[in-house]
Amino acid sequence: MNPKISAAITAVGGFVPETKLTNADLERMVDTNDEWIKSRTGIEERRILKGTGLASSDMAAPAIKQLCERRGITPKEIDCIICATVTPDMVFPATANIISDKVGAVNAFGFDLEAACSGFLYSLTVGASLIESGRYKKIVVVGVDKMSAIVDYSDRTTCIIFGDGAGAVLLEPNTEGYGIMDSLLKSDGTGLKHLHMKAGGSLNPSTAETVANKQHYIYQEGQSVFKFAVKGMADVSAELLERNNLTGDDISWLVPHQANRRIIDATAERIGLPPEKVMVNIHRYGNTTAATIPLCLWDWKDQLHKGDNLLLAAFGGGFTWGATLVKWAY
Ligand code: UT7
Repeated sequence: MNPKISAAITAVGGFVPETKLTNADLERMVDTNDEWIKSRTGIEERRILKGTGLASSDMAAPAIKQLCERRGITPKEIDCIICATVTPDMVFPATANIISDKVGAVNAFGFDLEAACSGFLYSLTVGASLIESGRYKKIVVVGVDKMSAIVDYSDRTTCIIFGDGAGAVLLEPNTEGYGIMDSLLKSDGTGLKHLHMKAGGSLNPSTAETVANKQHYIYQEGQSVFKFAVKGMADVSAELLERNNLTGDDISWLVPHQANRRIIDATAERIGLPPEKVMVNIHRYGNTTAATIPLCLWDWKDQLHKGDNLLLAAFGGGFTWGATLVKWAY
């Protein structure tokens, strides 16, 4: 019998733009203050992709190039690029196609996957299935968002939260029991009303009026989303551990979506993980939507050891949420 194939993460790449938007900068733009932002969200600064002609693909491409260098492969070896994003370069074609061109992944097919802040976990699960099928050997999953493109910088309830960035992982077959072990993904379309962008889609195509009404920016009812997020992320994490007969003691690292420090802390507490086992970089990057989880992996990559159990967890627009167990492979 052929050994069971699992999808191992074999390299990580990342990219954040140089320009920083600090809490002090925001104090000059809207009625807010550093103390409020830090205590309510944990954020101190975010990165912003500045410059005309630059889009999500311009952050994803360097992240993927870095990943290829680290793994010692050329982009020509990539079979598929799955791009998780809510800020595609254009409505179509898929940003994955644009990225393929920018990195020279001439033998890859690719597509975008839109599941808001859970996009990376959804994409990781789909990418893992392609590897587990035995048909593909090298799948890149990239989470990227240029949130500054859809943030209203006169709305203090949203502009303090979001930032830009990209993180990517390479998935390859493994027959020794390392890689993506299990995933529990959920969605609930009734969450639409609490978090969405009103115009620019087929429901409300762009017009001068939709632009004047600022309908191309994020609309979020923060408190409602917060309540669902705290419960959703903790519940799904606990359920995934339970069905794998694991407890918090078996987990080396919690890798949570970085939306709000208080949501992260509540999730860690629920599964009994001390702060030193929780990846937190929200203070440096803010909420980069699909990029938060791979950017954590990127920041912590040198501290991870073969065999470490990682619990990845996310909650976001849709609503979408989920958790994934990863046994680190290198
Ligand atoms: O990643 C995708 C999923 N998104 C999330 O998970 C986000 C979840 N939500 C949150 O993180 C939080 O709800 C926010 C950070 C968005 C807001 O924090 P909050 O503690 O829920 O604040 P709030 O909306 O309840 O507002 C409390 C007060 C209000 O003033 P009053 O009515 O009590 O006088 C707001 O007007 O804080 C005020 N406020 C601010 N004050 C200073 C709201 N934003 C600001 C601000 N600076 N930037």
